[in-house]
Amino acid sequence: MEARDHFRERLLRWYDAERRDLPWRAAAGSTPDPYHVWLSEIMLQQTRVDTVRAYFLRWLERFPTLESLSRATQDEVLKAWEGLGYYSRARNLHRAVREVRTKYGGRVPEDPEAFLALPGVGRYTAGAVMSIAFGREEPVVDGNVRRVFARVLDLPDPPAATLWAEATALVRGERPGDLNQALMELGALVCTPRSPACGACPVADHCRARAAGTQAARPARRGARAIPTEHHVVAVVRQADELLVVRRPDRARLGGLWEFPGLERKPGEGSQDAAVRAVRELIGLEITDLRPLGTVRHAFTHVRVTYEAMLATPQDDERGAEGGSAPRGHVLWVTREGLARLALPRAQHRIAELLDAGSEGASGDVRPVSIQS
Ligand code: ADE
Repeated sequence: MEARDHFRERLLRWYDAERRDLPWRAAAGSTPDPYHVWLSEIMLQQTRVDTVRAYFLRWLERFPTLESLSRATQDEVLKAWEGLGYYSRARNLHRAVREVRTKYGGRVPEDPEAFLALPGVGRYTAGAVMSIAFGREEPVVDGNVRRVFARVLDLPDPPAATLWAEATALVRGERPGDLNQALMELGALVCTPRSPACGACPVADHCRARAAGTQAARPARRGARAIPTEHHVVAVVRQADELLVVRRPDRARLGGLWEFPGLERKPGEGSQDAAVRAVRELIGLEITDLRPLGTVRHAFTHVRVTYEAMLATPQDDERGAEGGSAPRGHVLWVTREGLARLALPRAQHRIAELLDAGSEGASGDVRPVSIQS
């Protein structure tokens, strides 16, 4: 028996016994709904299984079919995605299912080329959905698969071409979807980044790193890059019981989500000046009576941001929305309850909570608070 056949057989047998019961997985032997598979694979790309589980189930209550998702508004979609991060995933999935409805009559295309052409679908997503939902012999390589192969082949930093070639050679036979999931499952449960459980590994006798004792050093860690920090100033503009929010441009980080107007402080610029500038530039509104509200810190993947929030009121009872750079329909005055219905980044929710925490005293004096988002 060829080594790969043996590897495949051992891996599948292990998967049948050990696979996790996940809500997007069909019972053994049956095929899952392509929409469920697609959705789960997009959610799983940057998010842990335990977090995805709850979001996935809630999402399907909200959008039970691909058709219902395709008919939702972007605001509804982003609200359902709120808290998962990497919001371009949700915007792209929404665009893609609309395309599936209009171009393919609402059926997920079974042709890898056609599926790959949809927004947000890369080689990984195409391989996962084609193999799991349609039983096509298409490979996947994600972080888990990379680690498994780095150890099996005993390579510190296997090139992408090697990984995809290896995955392609392996994903043959009756059960390509299970094979791909088994590889990822092995990486998640056994061939873990730290302290891999080689004793429990079904393919340990194929593993060159295990034979050489190098598994702990495979793959080699990439040098940690310094993460830059940004200081943003945010204006929480309040008039009567309403708060001013703007919608972020689609292509920006957190695109399509709502936030209090803010921007990055320029070197040497005072916080009050920056807050005034933010509201003037974005909304075309002059503000006054600025008071510190508190700071919120949030770590994104590639940048850490400190948001310094200032409470303010509009000058002369103005409402603005003319002459600012934010387009029409991207500026809203909302009550605190209305705010909770919009999709907001996590850090913006924390800023709203500064208001709730009563950090502004009854007499108008302010005790700024600092929290980690
Ligand atoms: N990680 C991402 N998708 C997965 C899947 N279908 N099974 C196991 N782990 C995964």
